[in-house]
Amino acid sequence: MLSKIPTFILVFILLFDHTEGKPYRAYKPKDVTILRKKVFINYDKSVRPFSDGEFKTEITFNYKMRNINRLDDIEETLTTTGHLEIRWRDKALSWNRTNHKGIMYIYVPQNDVWKPDLVLNNGNSKISELGGSHYYVAILYTGVVMWDPYEVFTTLCSVDMTYFPFDTQTCNIEFTIWSYRGTDVSIDKKSKIIADTSGNGIWRVKSTKSKVRTQRHRYIAKFKIILERKPHFFIFNIILPITVLGLVSTFVFLIPVDSGEKIGFSMTVFLSFAVFLTFISAEIPKNSEHTSVMNVYIVAEVMLSVILLLISSLQVRLYHKADQPLKNYQIAMIKVANFLGCRKAQMQQWNSKMTKADSTGHSIYDNTEKEWSLVVVSHAIDVIAFYIFTIINVLITSVTFIMLGLY
Ligand SMILES: *[C@@H]1O[C@H](CO)[C@@H](O)[C@H](O)[C@H]1NC(C)=O
Repeated sequence: MLSKIPTFILVFILLFDHTEGKPYRAYKPKDVTILRKKVFINYDKSVRPFSDGEFKTEITFNYKMRNINRLDDIEETLTTTGHLEIRWRDKALSWNRTNHKGIMYIYVPQNDVWKPDLVLNNGNSKISELGGSHYYVAILYTGVVMWDPYEVFTTLCSVDMTYFPFDTQTCNIEFTIWSYRGTDVSIDKKSKIIADTSGNGIWRVKSTKSKVRTQRHRYIAKFKIILERKPHFFIFNIILPITVLGLVSTFVFLIPVDSGEKIGFSMTVFLSFAVFLTFISAEIPKNSEHTSVMNVYIVAEVMLSVILLLISSLQVRLYHKADQPLKNYQIAMIKVANFLGCRKAQMQQWNSKMTKADSTGHSIYDNTEKEWSLVVVSHAIDVIAFYIFTIINVLITSVTFIMLGLY
């Protein structure tokens, strides 16, 4: 059947066909008018084409996708641009070339012939007729009708942002013959999507799949498009800065309390996160259906910076209440800090600094626990918190990266 001949072969025939040694173009406009009149004299465009031999009208079509316009994660829609190459055979529109100066094909306005009412099955906008009155269809002398409407299709596509920005989205574009039952008008199983684009600035077309199935007497052509996000923009503008800022935030514990910079540093880190959040909230997905790992990570980092700010405040408070007696857990903290690799020398340095006023010449560390003060507790918190929060941060970051599939 001619409708099954691929387009390029048809084009080949059209370009190189000759009739009896003469090029097929040897005809005049008048001949076309005569042919048109003859073909359409008894033609009823509201009757679907079928003959004794073939009761079913079989439609073959390909969707040549030219561009991915947009994948909207809030409205959950995919907008693509492309054209359909719809082919079917209408025997009533065929003619004998020998009797018509070898005319091989003619063009007629699309509304002059019967057309299948091919529509989007999962569209997001009002269903409207494909093409328009300004489109023409080509009719071959065999009765094959070729209709190539160019359209912007907006289809529903459920978006899963869990692995943003390393996500892969699967969208379907479904076409169906709306009014006719499958017993009358069918879609050829060979109908397929052809991705004529590699994607856009955000998405890469990973693969496409085509499947034709019947559902409740209707034929549905399901074109699956798998899109992969290009993550580089988000790596450089969100992930890297947040990760670095998160690691830097624990450096607050390397700053001595008496430098007076501790709270300032914590506050600055917290504010950087806040400023950052407002900047990236425009970039991260706003869909609440699936919580994205990235989002949780950012919120966790902000929470951590708040906790660091609280601890720093507490340390400053302790430092300035140096003359109060120590509680047991505070002594335990000093011991833990000491154990954690804060070497004796360092501890002595802290103590000598603290006891400078006393000018006793020996450090509290060398003396009994009773002589430890809240200043040492404040230093101990520095050591302990630095270890704990660096570990927490590395853990959170690693878990996030593992979940995002970065390893
Ligand atoms: C076309 O018309 C010519 C001349 O009338 C005839 O010989 C030929 O058999 C016709 N071809 C077909 C396919 O009907």
